[in-house]
Amino acid sequence: MKDKKIILTGDRPTGKLHLGHYVGSLKNRVKIQESGNYDKMYIMIADAQALTDNADNPEKVRDNIIEVALDYMACGLDPKKVTIFIQSQIPELYELTAYYMNLVTVARLQRNPTVKNEIKMRNFESDIPTGFFTYPISQAADITAFNATIVPVGEDQLPMIEQTREIVRKFNNIYGDTLIEPKAVIPSNDICSRLPGTDGKVKMSKSLGNCIYLSDEEDVIRTKIFNMYTDPGHLRVQDPGKIEGNAVFTYLDAFATNEHFAQYCPEYANLDEMKAHYRKGGLGDVKVKKFLNSIIQAELKPIRERRKMLQEHIPEIFEYLKEGSKDAEMVARETLEQVKNAMKINYFLDSYLMRYGSGFEKNIETEERF
Ligand code: TRP
Repeated sequence: MKDKKIILTGDRPTGKLHLGHYVGSLKNRVKIQESGNYDKMYIMIADAQALTDNADNPEKVRDNIIEVALDYMACGLDPKKVTIFIQSQIPELYELTAYYMNLVTVARLQRNPTVKNEIKMRNFESDIPTGFFTYPISQAADITAFNATIVPVGEDQLPMIEQTREIVRKFNNIYGDTLIEPKAVIPSNDICSRLPGTDGKVKMSKSLGNCIYLSDEEDVIRTKIFNMYTDPGHLRVQDPGKIEGNAVFTYLDAFATNEHFAQYCPEYANLDEMKAHYRKGGLGDVKVKKFLNSIIQAELKPIRERRKMLQEHIPEIFEYLKEGSKDAEMVARETLEQVKNAMKINYFLDSYLMRYGSGFEKNIETEERF
């Protein structure tokens, strides 16, 4: 079991997926799927986690399950090759969560940088829902239930994986070797780890309204790209421009290849040459945006078209999700059983206990005498 390569990732279904998800994670998942270099791959639609801060808006979560599944499959994830499932349909995860809660202090959760940051972003202050506060523990359950060894995530999720590793070590220490310690894998390209929004803000995020969605139509993408934040000091074409903090160039860092230059902008051999020209002055934003637009359109067109086709097959997609959830539950059930065995809360499987009650050793001696 320990040498197996089991991959697990997940997304909260609170909106359609965007370019940030795509470069930060989806593209890589498809690559792994196609490489076949794994024993099992799970992709979880984390609806229960989404409810931790959307308790009053269950419709949003419900409606976005299929949107996220469509985005997955439009990008090339194939439910015949990977197990796509819905978190809330695996009740075992919440039983595991309850037991793991005993291994984590409130202070430790308060120190979790991701939780800290998200609490700030949501203005929760002291009105934090308990479920939200403890979601790192439920995430540890998500990961360990499937014996995941590798968790490909964005950089912001690293503290979650660290928390999971701590829980695993603590559990194994107290109850004996049971759970598997996962490793996080983040995109090798820094920019892909955290694609800024079209407004240049640090992250593409639905709540900031600065996203390019995988399902956006061609003209919508075009408008978003042409309205993108660049260098506010770069007013005239001949002015020198800044690359740092210029979202258009950050996107080019994430997407542009030399082949793209050959195809759409042959006067530069590569991005370095284009950047040098921009820095020096004489290269206008419109031209750079046009180039970026060509690249993004080429990348998103096949995804959008596949998504439209998939939209005609909603019932089949729900069947896949149902099957995936069944498959996932079987695995989680087995882990839960092992956890309960390790914790010695398997009373009805313990024939000695059932026969003699407590005082196990004394009773064995008694038995031998008869
Ligand atoms: N917290 C993740 C996010 O917000 C979603 C998630 C839930 C997840 N459970 C997971 C990711 C388990 C990886 C593994 O994106």
